[in-house]
Amino acid sequence: MDHKLIISRTENFVKEQLGKDTTGHDWWHSDRVRNTACAIAEIEHADPFICTMAALLHDVADEKLNPSKEEGLRKVHTWLATYLTDQEQIRHIMMIIETMSYSGGGGEPMSTVEGQVVQDADRLDAIGAIGIARVFAFSGAKDRPIYDPELPPRDESLKEEYRDYSKGTAINHFYEKLLKLKTLMNTTYGRQLAEERHEFMLTYLDQFYKEWNQGDK
Ligand code: ADP
Ligand code: NI
Repeated sequence: MDHKLIISRTENFVKEQLGKDTTGHDWWHSDRVRNTACAIAEIEHADPFICTMAALLHDVADEKLNPSKEEGLRKVHTWLATYLTDQEQIRHIMMIIETMSYSGGGGEPMSTVEGQVVQDADRLDAIGAIGIARVFAFSGAKDRPIYDPELPPRDESLKEEYRDYSKGTAINHFYEKLLKLKTLMNTTYGRQLAEERHEFMLTYLDQFYKEWNQGDK
């Protein structure tokens, strides 16, 4: 089957799997990650098909959307095995998806340029104007408050704390994760794209505190 057809079938599969999610893992997130990944891939000379497939499928296996991470990964593998005959391609795409999910403490460094590209694209979608929208959408879905000046940011490297949504606020998530992503970029072009988005978050936070403290004397 040619790549174009596999990609269009995969798009439909991802829409079906993530379509109704409102916690930041909806279809449009995967679509944006794919588009950004393709743009970076061109500049970094990465394989566009591998990047496209890994980007589209990266959240289908997410532990938040499946009974377990293993079950999610099995689902993605079954999908790939239906359409691809090249075992090396399947292994490569699976490796990217397994490695890229960022939980407390971070994961293994990406070993291939395609993995680095897709991971950068996913991280870029967590910062900037869209990243800000996603952090508040996610926080609302998890009943976390917008901000509480009495709750200091936590150490996100502690995995249990990181996944304990009952603590912390949306604003704290900027310090726990989002403002650190710029320095974690793998590729030169990814880092370049992160710069503007990072600056925008700093501007946003400045304005947020300015308004919060407006009445204070
Ligand atoms: P992805 O799977 O896309 O790499 P995550 O699952 O870590 O990212 O997060 C999805 C979105 O939800 C991100 O935009 C992130 O900012 C937001 N998010 C994740 N964890 C938290 C949290 N503890 N508090 C607030 N927002 C969060
Ligand atoms: Ni993602």
